[in-house]
Amino acid sequence: MTTPIDADTGHEPVLLDEAMAFLAPAAGGVYCDATVGLGGHAVSILQRSSPGGRLVGIDRDKEALARARTRLADFGDRARLVHARFGSIRAVLESLAALPIDGCLVDLGVSSLQLDHSERGFSFRHGGPLDMRMDQSQGEPVGDFLRRADAGEIESILRDLGEERFARKIAAAIVALRGREDLSTTSALAALVARVVPSRERNKDPATRTFQALRIAINDELGEIERFLAEIPACLCPGGRLVVISFHSIEDRIVKRRFRALASGEAGGGPCLRVLTKHVVVAGDEERKRNPRSRSAKLRAAERLPS
Ligand SMILES: C[S@@+](CC[C@H](N)C(=O)[O-])C[C@H]1O[C@@H](n2cnc3c(N)ncnc32)[C@H](O)[C@@H]1O
Repeated sequence: MTTPIDADTGHEPVLLDEAMAFLAPAAGGVYCDATVGLGGHAVSILQRSSPGGRLVGIDRDKEALARARTRLADFGDRARLVHARFGSIRAVLESLAALPIDGCLVDLGVSSLQLDHSERGFSFRHGGPLDMRMDQSQGEPVGDFLRRADAGEIESILRDLGEERFARKIAAAIVALRGREDLSTTSALAALVARVVPSRERNKDPATRTFQALRIAINDELGEIERFLAEIPACLCPGGRLVVISFHSIEDRIVKRRFRALASGEAGGGPCLRVLTKHVVVAGDEERKRNPRSRSAKLRAAERLPS
């Protein structure tokens, strides 16, 4: 039987019970998993919306989509998978004649597949080319960006998206050394950061913030969330549910503010959402112990109001 926990990798979708409680998939409903990844949450949505429920799964990573396709094969044409960015969710759903939908889930950030495959260049723990693009068919790898960007641009990314106190020092070192040293690998960048930044946080590699900031920038992750949140209200039917799981305080802040603006009507066009999570929902002790990735997860949910 297909289960939400991946039998090959042991990957467990975060906040699964909480996400399903808010999304409330029902038989025959139409849902979108806008970050289908390895398909963990998607399995649960399809099981709970049986019989007859349909799911559109979106991911910008072709490798993830291929995995999800195998994983969801048992559900046949109830699941449709699309290679796209969720920032253009409306056009994707329109092209499949899937509008309006009864619910949408977004589980932001990187997948374990991206982190574990060294050749994708996401992790300072595995040596690989310095890439970090979620969609390798377009955009610029981090290595190319660091070869051409000026120190000020690199510094503001590290400071604003990584909250890195040593942003200026790291940016200066990258610019000073890039002509002399090969910075095209994850290990080379991690070694450079380790030389410049004092190791100050226990159990945290000094390169953590640098890698996170560059990943968010190269994939325009915050721009994607903004575009998604602008489009999603018009995609939901009255009573339709939206569940967003984020892993970074900057992402959560964007979601919280946008929910508030859509609920009060200050986003324009009158109130269109009711916020269901008065406070952000986090993982319980058991899940935190079992699945370390859940420790930074934050869930917010809302419901579409009738127009
Ligand atoms: C945390 S994983 C999702 C895991 C999934 N919920 C599961 O249970 O297997 C996040 C996924 O979102 C995808 N992603 C991130 N930003 C995206 C965007 N703007 N558009 C589409 N997919 C995106 C990533 O490629 C990654 O596969």
